[in-house]
Amino acid sequence: MTASRKGTQEPARACRPAERGRRASVRFRDCQEGAMYYPEEIVEEVRNRNDIVEVVSGYVKLQKKGGRHWGLCPFHNEKSPSFCVSADRQTYHCFGCGAGGNVYTFVMNYENYSFPEAIKMLAERAGVQLPETEETEESRRKQNRRTRLLEVNKAAAKYFYYQLRSPHGAVGYQYLKKRELSDETMHRFGLGYAAKDGALLVRYLREKGFEDELIQEAGLAGHSEKYGGLMSQFWNRVMYPIQDIHNRVIGFGGRVMGEGEPKYLNSPETPVFDKRRNLYGLNYARKARSGNIILCEGYMDVISMHQAGFSQAVASLGTAFTAEQAALLRRYTDNVLLAYDSDGAGVKAALRGIGILREAGLTGRVINMQPYKDPDEFMKALGKEAFEERIRQAENSFFFEIRIMEGRYDMADPEARTKFHREIARKLCEFTEEVERDNYLQAVAEKYFIGIENLRRLVRSYAAASTGNEPIQRPKSGIRRKSDPEEHAKRTQRLLITWLSEEPALYRKVSKYISPQDFTVELYRKVAERMFQELEEGRVNQAGIISMFEEEEQQREAASLFDASLPPLDAGQNREKAFRDILLGVKKAAYEYHMSRKETDTNTLAWALAAKKELEELAKTHISLD
Ligand code: UTP
Ligand code: MN
Repeated sequence: MTASRKGTQEPARACRPAERGRRASVRFRDCQEGAMYYPEEIVEEVRNRNDIVEVVSGYVKLQKKGGRHWGLCPFHNEKSPSFCVSADRQTYHCFGCGAGGNVYTFVMNYENYSFPEAIKMLAERAGVQLPETEETEESRRKQNRRTRLLEVNKAAAKYFYYQLRSPHGAVGYQYLKKRELSDETMHRFGLGYAAKDGALLVRYLREKGFEDELIQEAGLAGHSEKYGGLMSQFWNRVMYPIQDIHNRVIGFGGRVMGEGEPKYLNSPETPVFDKRRNLYGLNYARKARSGNIILCEGYMDVISMHQAGFSQAVASLGTAFTAEQAALLRRYTDNVLLAYDSDGAGVKAALRGIGILREAGLTGRVINMQPYKDPDEFMKALGKEAFEERIRQAENSFFFEIRIMEGRYDMADPEARTKFHREIARKLCEFTEEVERDNYLQAVAEKYFIGIENLRRLVRSYAAASTGNEPIQRPKSGIRRKSDPEEHAKRTQRLLITWLSEEPALYRKVSKYISPQDFTVELYRKVAERMFQELEEGRVNQAGIISMFEEEEQQREAASLFDASLPPLDAGQNREKAFRDILLGVKKAAYEYHMSRKETDTNTLAWALAAKKELEELAKTHISLD
């Protein structure tokens, strides 16, 4: 079956959008990201015209220190800068999490772009005209699953959109009207309706050229015994398309009409729908520039907040708030306001959320919604100004936690009071920074009329008891795997590449001992080939080498080759020894690798013999680093 992407025919009985003064088309973003190849010179030109320091500065606050620019890493959570950008090398590297690469990798990672999307964005930024790329047969075939999933989602979103505005969708439309959503809001969020007849969506998608298998993989339809065929998973529901930060529809939430279970039905996880790493409404919230982000529980909360002008509201996707989502939020703000439901479950979720935000280095404050249940109800009852006031009064998350704790104790009972104080002390121990801990200690002592010295003593005793058995948190990258020989060989090869690229003059001294074949990993070999060529000319274009690779993973790996940590520059003799060891290590590993391979032919054998000789010679040679 072929996709007729030109098809503009709308779903059967499509509405009369003009009647309600709505635009006839929804702006769900296109998802053309099939593999496209640009000539290397273009890739290089676009890279050259986008200074990495400038580009990164658009996302991360950088400070110049000693020839490099430093900032807080946008790819992991940290409080002090270990992310550095080098203008000379046109690369970045994080010493905390190991992220690294060139301007392409950065944009791909940060914006969640594919390579073609990244190059388009950067070309536009620098005013470079990209050549038209022909979609070859091969690239058409290569057009991957992700793209097709995004396409089928987009088509379904359009279908639901038109249904809502058709006579069939009146139930849904009335429902949303009753919830006081304006047509404009419904349009902005692309809200839709899934018809009672579950066969309609399937028929529509098939007509558009989507295969049954794809429709099922997207979680849009499933086989029904009862009707003997493929039926929509969503029927008689108001549909909330879930969009990623680039407005691509990655999944759906559907709310049942009236009572029914489940109240909200969500798309399953798919290759394009990662519930841990996306947030509902973030496509708008990230542009809100309000200085904070408001985290809500439900889709409806987000929508009514936006309608009231709080376009910084987001919600998780029918699942609990995750550390990944916290990291995502950190890219846009360090000030998160929790607007969770005021019932027991909401408080519990807020407490959990506070912990996650804190771990991510974010300040969380809690908005009090009382006496209303959630932001949606609050907004309807009291309106925008009242909510603004609640934002100003939002409670510091620590005090929120203490207040919730307090509710569990009978303050009239001295014993319960003591327990409460102990719990406060334990909670204070969670502040690892002395000053911060003491500030909170003073504030909480004052608020709850606790003798400050008594509380201090209590905290000290808990702190002392907990040291030693409390696991110390380390960044993941700090954990070194036990060295297996293969990992060791790779590390040595990386060190050699880094060293030669840092000190190109060394290349002349060792070029007769070393060749790209000495690199046992294919990607390393490719890098070495290109780099050695460049070294012949005296300089290494690291960022250019990274762009030889199209896949993000490969780019990342190539980038890591230039970021191995070398021994300090002033180590003199030890450095010479270290360099020689690395060189010997690489040669030895290469020799052993080729010898251990079964398909040893005469060529390899000859190569191995030569390598052995070089190895012996090298062992006797002194290499001076000056
Ligand atoms: P709520 O039940 O608080 O939803 O669940 P709500 O936004 O107030 O819904 P309305 O106002 O009755 O329409 C909060 C969120 O939890 C998820 C949804 O993401 C919802 O927005 N949820 C809830 C589900 O995924 N499934 C459910 O069955 C219920
Ligand atoms: Mn609600």
